[in-house]
Amino acid sequence: MKYKVSAPSNIALIKYMGKIDANLNKPTNTSFSMTLNHLLTFVEIEPNAHSEDRWELLKGENLYPMSLSDKGQLRFLKHFQFLKQHFKVENKFFTVRSANNFPSDCGLASSASSFAALTQCTYEMFSRDKKLDLRTLGELSRQGSGSSCRSLAGPWVLWGEKGIEQVKLPYGELLHMAVVVEDEKKLISSSEAHKRVSHSSLFVGRPERAEKRVQQLLQAMQTKNWREAYEISWAEFWDMHALFETCNPHFSYMNSASLSVLRSVEKVWEEKGDGPLCTMDAGPNIHLLFRPEQKQMLVEFNNQWKNQYKVFANGMA
Ligand code: DP6
Repeated sequence: MKYKVSAPSNIALIKYMGKIDANLNKPTNTSFSMTLNHLLTFVEIEPNAHSEDRWELLKGENLYPMSLSDKGQLRFLKHFQFLKQHFKVENKFFTVRSANNFPSDCGLASSASSFAALTQCTYEMFSRDKKLDLRTLGELSRQGSGSSCRSLAGPWVLWGEKGIEQVKLPYGELLHMAVVVEDEKKLISSSEAHKRVSHSSLFVGRPERAEKRVQQLLQAMQTKNWREAYEISWAEFWDMHALFETCNPHFSYMNSASLSVLRSVEKVWEEKGDGPLCTMDAGPNIHLLFRPEQKQMLVEFNNQWKNQYKVFANGMA
């Protein structure tokens, strides 16, 4: 019996950065994200005749070959074994296959979508009669990779002290564009970044700032104050990147190409009095979110950057 599911990635506007419990991936602050339904990981689980669990690349139409390092495979299988234990699966071994519908070398984080898909697939396979609520499933998923719990719902998800919660907003699902200015593997993983930021002097007050921004951003979105939502999201990713630049040892993801794209976003806002929401993850790439009626603006950004960088967007058809 083989099970196969897919799960989307997500992009946070208020960031999960810093953990109060590193083993359980318990965050220091509430984060808030939009699920990215066009960036998917597929996971398939099938019993095998070996005496161990194994990982393989899933092959299929529209799936990209990806290489998962030995360390990456171990981390993935470790989460699978944690889930097996949770669902009381003993002395049975499986082959876990996974792949993304986007290239893995493109600088778009796939850990959220892959750990969410692994959790969902394992749950569907082993917990058929016992239905788990969203929060409980989220608690399981975050132990593999924190941000993955936000991929189990959508489009808007809050992840706080009590777990994940779907939020209804008047904007619904926005159009998403990622301008991939660099697709090299990150030298500092986000898990390492979580550890280091607590040694920044700017980390003092960071949880409070993030919590306040969550409330402000929700309020801006609920009242359809788009500019305010842009300003809050902008301040938030700079806050996170300032932590990276000021911890010990400090490090940087931002490069001159990131800055050029950021300046072009500011220019559009200046000239039109409107523009996309803008954020950056733990990497140099820029994520933009557009309201559906801003589709022409998305096309213009795509035309501006597509010859220089890889651009991934939905809503282009
Ligand atoms: C910068 O979820 O990748 O993308 O829990 O260690 O697996 P682990 O970290 P991860 O952290 C993501 C951090 C971020 C911000 C965010 O998505 O909220």
